[in-house]
Amino acid sequence: MRISQDWQTATVRRSTPLSPTVRELELLPDAGCSRPAPGSHLPIRLTTADGRRLTRQYSLLGRSDDGLAWRIAVKRCQPSRGGSAAVHALVAGDVLQVLPPQNHFELSVRAPQHLLVAGGIGITPILGMAQALVARGADVRLLYAVRSADDLVYADLLRALLGERLQTFVSSQGQRLDIAAEVARLQPDAQLLLCGPAGLTRAAQAAWHAGGRPAHRLRFETFGAVATEAEPFWVDLPRHNLRFQVATDQTLLQALDANGIATLSDCQRGECGLCAMDVLEVQGRVDHHDVFLSPAERDANRRLCACVSRVRGGGIVLDTAYRPDPA
Ligand code: FES
Repeated sequence: MRISQDWQTATVRRSTPLSPTVRELELLPDAGCSRPAPGSHLPIRLTTADGRRLTRQYSLLGRSDDGLAWRIAVKRCQPSRGGSAAVHALVAGDVLQVLPPQNHFELSVRAPQHLLVAGGIGITPILGMAQALVARGADVRLLYAVRSADDLVYADLLRALLGERLQTFVSSQGQRLDIAAEVARLQPDAQLLLCGPAGLTRAAQAAWHAGGRPAHRLRFETFGAVATEAEPFWVDLPRHNLRFQVATDQTLLQALDANGIATLSDCQRGECGLCAMDVLEVQGRVDHHDVFLSPAERDANRRLCACVSRVRGGGIVLDTAYRPDPA
C-alpha cells in the first residue's frame, strides 16, 4: 500500500538517445518545474505496450537549461518489467502523469571529503551531486563503473567538470573498481554516496562497516535489482489458502497485489525492508536482490524482500503476517 499524492500531467518535450540502451528525456510539467535537489527522483505513471499501468521512479539529472523541463535518463533493461521499455517508447508530445520530485538520497555538503560512486545508469543522481559539490569547491572524487564503453554516458561532461577526479572502470576492458580499497583510503569523516546495482552496494556496505565508519556517512540508492534471467516461480500462501505463479516480467510484490494480497512497500528497490516477508519453505533457491537484509539473513532464507527477490527452480511458501519486531 502506498500513500496517494496529487499527480499532475507532464509533456515529453524531447527524447534523445545517449547510447544504444540509454535515452535522456525532457518532461515539461504543467504545474511548473521546481528545481530538484541533487539525488531527487521523479515518480512517473507509464502504460506498457500491452496496456498495463505502472508507476516507476527515475532519478533526476536536474532541469533543462531554460528551467522549464525536468531531465531524466533511463536505461532500457533486458529483460524489462515494462517500465524502461515504456519510457523508451515515449516521443515528443506524449503526455504522462508525474508527482513532484522527491528526495530519499540526500547529499550532505558538510562532510570534509566526498566519494561519489556510480554503477552504470546509477550515474543519473550522482551527476547532479558532482555538479553541486564542484560548485561549492568541495573535496570530491567520482568513480564510475560500467560494463562496456558504450555505457559511459555523460563521461565527457564529467571529465570537463572533474578532470582527474573522475575515474572510469569498464569491466569489458578488464578494469575493476575495488570499492573496499577506495573506502579504506577515505578520511574518517568522509561521505560515500553510491548509486548502483545491489552487488556493488553490498560490497560498499561491507567495507564501510568493516572499517567502523559512521553509518550516516554512507548513503546509497540501488537499481537494476531484477534478475537478469528471471524465471517464473510458484507461491503458496497457506494463511490465505492461495497458490499462484509469479511471471518473469512481474515482481513477487506485483503478483501478491494482483492476487488481492495487500503488502506494505515503499522503496521497491530492496532498500527499506517494508515488504520483507517470512519464508516458511523454499523449493529451489531464493535469489535475494535486496540490500536491506544482512548477509546472515539472506543466507538463512527465513525472510525475503518481495519487491526485488525471486525464486529459481521451484517456488516458495510464505507467511503474509510478518511484522517487524517492536524497537
Ligand atoms: S519496498 Fe522497500 S525493500 Fe521492498
